[in-house]
Amino acid sequence: MDNLDKIVEEACQAFAAVTQAADLEQAKTRYLGKSGILTAQMKLLGGLPAADRPAAGSRINQARDAISHALESRRQSLRAEALALQLAAEALDVGLPGRGIATGGLHPVTLARERIEALFASIGFSVAEGPEIETDFYNFTALNIPQDHPARAMHDTFYVDEQHLLRTHTSPVQIHYLEDHPPPLRIIAPGRVYRVDSDATHSPMFHQIEGLWVDETISFAHLKGIVQTFLQQFFERDDLTVRFRPSFFPFTEPSAEMDMSWGDGWLEIGGCGMVHPAVLKHVNIDSEQYQGFAFGMGLERLAMLRYGVTDLRAFFAGDLRFLKQFN
Ligand code: PHE
Repeated sequence: MDNLDKIVEEACQAFAAVTQAADLEQAKTRYLGKSGILTAQMKLLGGLPAADRPAAGSRINQARDAISHALESRRQSLRAEALALQLAAEALDVGLPGRGIATGGLHPVTLARERIEALFASIGFSVAEGPEIETDFYNFTALNIPQDHPARAMHDTFYVDEQHLLRTHTSPVQIHYLEDHPPPLRIIAPGRVYRVDSDATHSPMFHQIEGLWVDETISFAHLKGIVQTFLQQFFERDDLTVRFRPSFFPFTEPSAEMDMSWGDGWLEIGGCGMVHPAVLKHVNIDSEQYQGFAFGMGLERLAMLRYGVTDLRAFFAGDLRFLKQFN
């Protein structure tokens, strides 16, 4: 009985020495378990005179309480240590500099399109759109290209089925717009077009910008003035000039090919002409009262020249190293 204080002291030291929760439970069993040291003390009670037993039993219980208390407080401090370790390991330094988030940018073709839209909007043109999957009627027939017309062979067309095709130019938007809007009207219609063609300077998908102005007194002179002024502003060159070479399109008469001055020479930028009376007739517009001009330009060509891109295929390769330069 005399060594109870020593037992308590040893237990406290044993608890203090462990660093793992599992070791603590082992130490507990050693002191408080069924075959532990305190139980052994209890068993000794039987050998004492009856008068001494209550006091001795009470002392053992005090020792048990003291050990239990020490055990519990060590349990808590181990738990706190473990938590502190975990928090330290999972610590988040919100003051660290971030990895940097790269912002996206617009594709150069989109940049060129938006620039063109803004320039034409400033002189009263609206932006119109049409479907990329077209019927034969809108892509050809309504544009005065009947079924057996040789001009159809000029367009290497992707057919979807007997009735539908991928539009080969943005000119069908002229028809859609004229069907829904009485003149006077002036629009540009930018969009994707498709042709069976693929090499260094041709992509099976590319973009055109269609222009259309219909009113009572619109002439070829307006066309020339609008196109030249637009190109001068787009390229920020007041000395840029345009020239028109006689050409043929079934939906314009007269028709011309448009070139602009570039360096020492000329670059072709699209086709144009006065809207053919047969086209106006298809959309029930009186060609005696109204006339207009139309043009179609290649958007990639304009974007390449403005941004100094030399290979058309770079626009469609999706290479971020190329695209990031336009951010
Ligand atoms: N649609 C013609 C083409 O793709 C261009 C054009 C548009 C010509 C409008 C005249 C008028 O080649």
